[in-house]
Amino acid sequence: MNLNRRQCLQLGGSLLLTHCALRPVSPSPYDYVLTAAPTGISLIPGTTTPAWAYNGQFPGPTLRVRQNRPVRILVENRLPEPTTVHWHGIRLNNAADGVPGLTQEPIPPGGDFVYEFTCPDAGTFWYHPHINSVEQLGRGLVGLLIVEEEQPVQFHADLSLVLKDWTLHPDGSFAPFTSHRAAARVGTLGNHATVNGSPTQTLAVPAGGRVRLRIANLDNTRLFNIGADFPGRVIAVEGNPLAEPVPLTRHPLGSGMRVDLELQIPEQPGKLHILDRKGRFDFPLCELNITHAKLPPLPAPRLPMNPIAPLDLPNAVRIPLVFEWEGALSPTTADGQVDPVFWTINKRAWTDHSHMHLPEPLAKLKLGGTYVFELYNATQHHHPIHLHGYTFTVLWSDQRTITPYHTDTILLEKNERAHVGIVADNPGDWMFHCHVIEHMATGLMGYIRVT
Ligand code: C2O
Ligand code: CU
Ligand code: CU
Repeated sequence: MNLNRRQCLQLGGSLLLTHCALRPVSPSPYDYVLTAAPTGISLIPGTTTPAWAYNGQFPGPTLRVRQNRPVRILVENRLPEPTTVHWHGIRLNNAADGVPGLTQEPIPPGGDFVYEFTCPDAGTFWYHPHINSVEQLGRGLVGLLIVEEEQPVQFHADLSLVLKDWTLHPDGSFAPFTSHRAAARVGTLGNHATVNGSPTQTLAVPAGGRVRLRIANLDNTRLFNIGADFPGRVIAVEGNPLAEPVPLTRHPLGSGMRVDLELQIPEQPGKLHILDRKGRFDFPLCELNITHAKLPPLPAPRLPMNPIAPLDLPNAVRIPLVFEWEGALSPTTADGQVDPVFWTINKRAWTDHSHMHLPEPLAKLKLGGTYVFELYNATQHHHPIHLHGYTFTVLWSDQRTITPYHTDTILLEKNERAHVGIVADNPGDWMFHCHVIEHMATGLMGYIRVT
């Protein structure tokens, strides 16, 4: 007999009640509960940083869900201000996308919200608020969302690295998260780097093992160039497997971007390193300590492709989207503050703090049509450009040879032109913005409407 508590209560009767009493408390109706709250964490020894965190920990708990299976997540807001949670990279229903003023009302302090969605794609994704983002992400509200393949793909180990820097005073308190000067340029770089929440990170890896390493850049600003001091292969980018894995040399990872590596660990004991390659210099991000292990033989892992609809290119509608630098301090807000706007998309700016004043969409798309966005970065800075609710196919760039691949974010170099395509198969209003959070907060943001 397998009754839930309500059925038991409805059926009544002493026999059934006895049966129920033997059962543990009824299962939670939620797969996960995320509580966002102020949490002191220790980043500089001997000091406390007044972080905001999910479930009292940084990074937030890694949520593991199964591809194609519905999930329900209760979010409790115990912050002193409104929040939301956005599930970055998931092709979900619009109502669960977590954008205040566009897909939901903000969750007020003390309030709760239930997110219900299904993840059609397996891979490495993440979650974060979508309101007052410079500060809420800056204070630590980020975590990984791992979607496991419907048919499990086995590795000897499945490890992850969450990269995030912090802007701290020596006493552990926060330095300003932004300045007009930085927001108008590359953004504010942190002065205290962490990997999985600590200044240094060592992971044990099994000798002779095949390891999946998921690396997520959850920093507001920084660009990493991921490398290693031993051979590895890139098997997925932004959660999406590559049709053909490529050797890892120097993989650029802008804000919000992820890469999955397949590492073949040597048999001999020793130490390996995952690196950030800046110019001619390599900085270790993580040490891998090879430990002796008795490993079961595994078939060579191969990630199945995610079910992204193929583009109908001959009939595609082309939409130019141009990113520009504005350099204007305008307009003045109602309370007399300067509203800094530095960046535009197609000559229009929309800022994080004005989510409540909905502008017209950047483009209106018809459900089912194929669209190619012709992106042009007419600025002197790089921008990781991200679209919600979709996985686009990168088709062409004027600066690199492209083997078409799927992603939710494309890192545009200065002056780069690139073409990316989608089949408009997910109805709703979907954010389109730069993931350098200060750029998004000062204009580099808009949305597309699919009906
Ligand atoms: Cu991580 Cu609007 O996105
Ligand atoms: Cu997103
Ligand atoms: Cu940008």
